[in-house]
This record gives sequence, structure tokens and C-alpha cells, in this order.
Amino acid sequence: MTRVFSGVKPTGHLTLGNYLGAMRRWAEVDQHAADALFCVVDLHALTVDHDPARVRRLSRQGATLLLASGLDPERCTVFVQSHVDEHARLSYLLECVATDGEMRRMIQYKEKAAREQRRGGSVRLSLLTYPVLMAADILAYGADEVPVGDDQRQHVELARDLAVRFNQRYGHTFVVPRATKPGVAARVMNLQDPASKMGKSDDVGPGIVYLLDEPDVVRRKVMRAVTDSGREVVYDREARPGLANLLEILAACTGGDPELLRGAYTSYGELKRDTAEAVVEMLRPVQQRHKELCADPAYVEGVLREGAERARGMARPTVDAAYRAIGLLPAVAEPAVAEREAAGAGV
Ligand code: TYM
Repeated sequence: MTRVFSGVKPTGHLTLGNYLGAMRRWAEVDQHAADALFCVVDLHALTVDHDPARVRRLSRQGATLLLASGLDPERCTVFVQSHVDEHARLSYLLECVATDGEMRRMIQYKEKAAREQRRGGSVRLSLLTYPVLMAADILAYGADEVPVGDDQRQHVELARDLAVRFNQRYGHTFVVPRATKPGVAARVMNLQDPASKMGKSDDVGPGIVYLLDEPDVVRRKVMRAVTDSGREVVYDREARPGLANLLEILAACTGGDPELLRGAYTSYGELKRDTAEAVVEMLRPVQQRHKELCADPAYVEGVLREGAERARGMARPTVDAAYRAIGLLPAVAEPAVAEREAAGAGV
């Protein structure tokens, strides 16, 4: 059976981009078709200036929203990254396979490091090595597929490269994963700035729809979305990015096609109204379930505890195999290996 792994980082409140680009597919498709693991990747939230209490709060909220979006712990494994030591254990080995140049070429590193420097802050070393930890997340589980939005594709490519390199140098250890993305809305753009991705860590809210925004807030944000000059409703990502973004959001919410949908509209106002309502309706059951789950924190904690246990059991054999393959001495001698080495073989 195909193994799937993916995750969200608790650096901010989850957005419509996270939902359409990734989470919705996890619930609707991946957990039914594959042996799937979904993770709140909290170690990744420490790569930028952070408030410990906020990271804890957002991790709990992220996990609750994963369940609210339809992930069923009977069908898939839901857990928190820091509860499973194997991620950090493997990350170090992969740092010994990755190169400094490779890390510095990562687009997200370049953008985030520049932003951090503009703010006068310092860039944490972990921001540079973050994609290696992400590769460890994926490779530890032998994932075949990694369902992500467009912005994470370069990181999954790196995970592929590291898997291939490790296997070639030290013997076959890792499955080589591939990224998968949704048909539409693989990159939801900021409603106020359609040239930028709708990102949860951005601190300006009016262009970002959060999953827990009240319906009226969603309506207001969508109705105020920046559209392009012109009157005709066309679908052109390059020339009319604001309009294209709305058409893609509407298409993703209603299961339609942006090119076909555009024909149904003669004004931007109508398109915005329908898009706002479609988003509100899509989020309604998620928000309702989130509210119910918040009233039962013990249930969520139980799911995460069991999820971590299951995840640990899946990751450990692969990570142990990687430790042996790269040349580290096993903590507990394996009789067959010890005997062969005593006889002078393979030294
Ligand atoms: P993160 O937390 O930024 O985003 C979680 C998922 O949401 C997708 N996404 C979007 N999709 C479409 N439009 C957007 N505007 C948008 N914003 C976010 C992301 O592509 C992602 O799929 N590094 C990852 C987390 C991670 C991970 C992993 C993912 C860590 N380890 C292993 C997969 C496998 C991240 O920062 O995602």
C-alpha cells in the first residue's frame, strides 16, 4: 500500500491556503487510499523567532484542526513531530549527506532569511537546515507520496535527492518520495497582494482567510480582495492574478474548473459574492467540528499519544537501519554482525 506523509507547521493560524493546498486532500483522498501519517511539525516552528507558549497553543490548535478537517485516527496516524525522536535522530545523518550549497539555494530560506534580516533579527542556523529536517520527516516513514502545496515542492525534491544520494553511498535504505499536489489551488495567493502566497506566518491579516475566521470576516476579506483593472472576467494567472486567485478558490470549493466558471460571471462583484459564500460553506463543518473537539481536549490528547506511539514504531526500524548503514556502531551488538566482524569479514 502506498505510504503518505505530510505535515503543517504551527507558526500561525492555519489558512485557506493550507486547507485547499493540502489538508482537504489528506482527509478526502489520502487517508482512504493510502497508509497515511499527518503531523504537526512543531520542531519546524522553532526556526524563526518564537514565543514558546504560542507554539504550544498553535500546535494544539493545529492538531485539533487536522481532526476537524476530517482526518480519522482510525484510518490514519495523526501526531506531533517532537513526540517522536526519530525525526531529529535522522535529521543529523541527513545533514551529513546534504551540502551547504544545496541549503543556501532553497527559495524559502532565501526569502525568510532576507525578511528576518530586514526586521533586524538574526537568522537561526535551523532555518538553513530546516529542509533537511523535513527530508527526515518524510524518509523516516518510507513515504512514497508527499501531498503538499506548490511552495513545498522544492523541499520534497531535496528529500528525493538526499534519499538517492544516501542509497547510492551507503546501500539501499530509503524510499525515494514524490510530491503530489491538488488540481487547482496548489498556490492560493494573498487576497490583498495576489503576487504573494497566502501564508500563515505573515503578520498582515486582511488578505489571509484563516480557517477559524467567523463567516462575516471571511465575507469581508473576500469582498475586499484586490482585483485587477478591467471589467471582463477572464482566467489568466499572469495578466490577472487577483481574478485568477478568486476563480481558483471558487473552483476548489465547488469542485469546478476556473476556466469554465469564469463564463458564468459578468461582474467582479458577483464572483466575489459567490466565492465568499462558497468558502463560508466549506469552512462551516470544519469550524463546527473544531468547536466540538475543543470541548474534549482529552480526546485530542489521546489521539496524539496513540499516533506518536504508532509513528515511533514505523520510523524506528528505518532510522536504525540508516544508523547502521552510515557506519555507526549499534548500541546493542547484533550477534550475526559481531560474529562476522570477529572472523574478519567485511572489515
Ligand atoms: P506549511 O505549514 O507552511 O503548510 C502546510 C501545507 O499547506 C500548504 N500551503 C499552501 N498550499 C496552497 N496555497 C497556499 N497559500 C499554501 N500555504 C501553505 C503547504 O504547501 C503545505 O503542504 N515545511 C512544511 C511542513 C513540513 C512538511 C514536512 C510537509 C515539515 N515537514 C514533511 C510535508 C512533509 C511547511 O512549512 O508547510
